[in-house]
Parts: sequence; structure tokens; C-alpha cells
Amino acid sequence: IHMQEPDGSVTSHEAPTDMGLSLMEFLKASEYDILATCGGMALCATCCVDVLEGEEKLNEMTDDEYAMLDTLPDLLPNSRLACQLQLNNNMDGLKVKLHSVS
Ligand code: FES
Repeated sequence: IHMQEPDGSVTSHEAPTDMGLSLMEFLKASEYDILATCGGMALCATCCVDVLEGEEKLNEMTDDEYAMLDTLPDLLPNSRLACQLQLNNNMDGLKVKLHSVS
């Protein structure tokens, strides 16, 4: 997983795919500043990320995820809820950044 940092630099992380973790849980464990207030229930949108590369590698959005994202005023077409993205081998090379609310 490649993370674009706020300063534009990119950090690469090896993410485990055999532990049933979501991208949100992994990023939180990697000490990124993700609140994840709802604990991964697609109810808070504080885990929102913008997908920069590899969007096609991700699972389809569920209605719940779409409904939550739709409440964000500054939603981008490539925004996703990291808690709804379960880590898997297909995601190798995915590049995201934390969605910043401006
Ligand atoms: Fe709340 Fe993802 S953790 S929507």
C-alpha cells in the first residue's frame, strides 16, 4: 500500500492480507491520523481516503458506503471509506491519501 503523505511524499507499507483487516484498521495501526469514530460501521466517514491509483483493484461500493460518502460536502469521485476495504492481495500497489476536509 502506498500512502501519499500531506507533504506529497509517498510512503510504502507492507500490509498483511491474511488477518481480515480493513484498510482503515491497517492505517490506524500504522499510526495514521484516522479517527474511525464508528469503528468501521460505515457510519462516520472519518476513515475516508482518496484513491490515487488502483481504484479498479477495490471491491464495489456497497449502498451503505455510498450513502455515507454522499453526506460529505467535498466528496471526490475516487473517495472511499477505508473501513469498507478489506485488505487482499489484489490491492498490491494501491495508492491512497487521507481525505482532507477543507
Ligand atoms: Fe466510520 Fe469508516 S470508520 S465510516
